[in-house]
Amino acid sequence: MFYETKDHHGLKNNPFKSLIVPRPIGWISSQDRDGIVNLAPYSFFNGVGSEPPTVMFASEGTHTEGDFKDSATNVQETGEFVCNLATWELREQMNTTSAQVARAVDEFELAGLTATPSRLVAPPRVKESPVHLECTHLKTVELPSNDPRRPSLVVFGRVVGIHIDDSIITDGMIDMEAFKPIARLGYMDYTLVDNVFTMRRP
Ligand SMILES: Cc1cc2nc3c(=O)[nH]c(=O)nc-3n(C[C@H](O)[C@H](O)[C@H](O)COP(=O)(O)O)c2cc1C
Repeated sequence: MFYETKDHHGLKNNPFKSLIVPRPIGWISSQDRDGIVNLAPYSFFNGVGSEPPTVMFASEGTHTEGDFKDSATNVQETGEFVCNLATWELREQMNTTSAQVARAVDEFELAGLTATPSRLVAPPRVKESPVHLECTHLKTVELPSNDPRRPSLVVFGRVVGIHIDDSIITDGMIDMEAFKPIARLGYMDYTLVDNVFTMRRP
């Protein structure tokens, strides 16, 4: 099949989010000017450079209370965030934190997670996650959107500090079997990284 994206795809569901897969899940912790903490998953998330380490997450749509989603708003306001990595053990809690709740709600409490202080930035980390990337805001790019009620923002951050739980380091390397990161497949589907193969470059 082929379809132009300005037209309808003709399938039961939009296939786009099931084609660029698997997408890692950046579980973004941030806080607003008053120190109200926020936590939400973003799968339009990735590393976009390693020297210096740089990440992005993309926020589509608005918060139910209007304006941009909390994560993008908080990063814009305070200039800092943390990408916690979502794992198999944390899948339910990760999902819980995607609920559209009032801005005043702390999703750490909602999901029964432990907020632990970061070293270099103000937003706390998810203690239960084995990897945290402490980030400072580089820039937010607002992309053209087809629908003014559905703004599209891409938030870029410089990774200034990285926490790795010792339990996922084996022989000085990240042990995927211990890490067990999960990723998005579109629809309501996910995958677990549990199959690793190695290829030497030519
Ligand atoms: C696995 C997963 C991935 C998600 N990825 C995105 C994403 O990339 N962009 C986005 O705007 N919303 C995404 N969402 C929805 C947000 O998590 C949801 O809108 C959340 O309420 C936003 O919270 P915030 O306003 O506190 O930032 C995702 C949800 C789940 C469960």
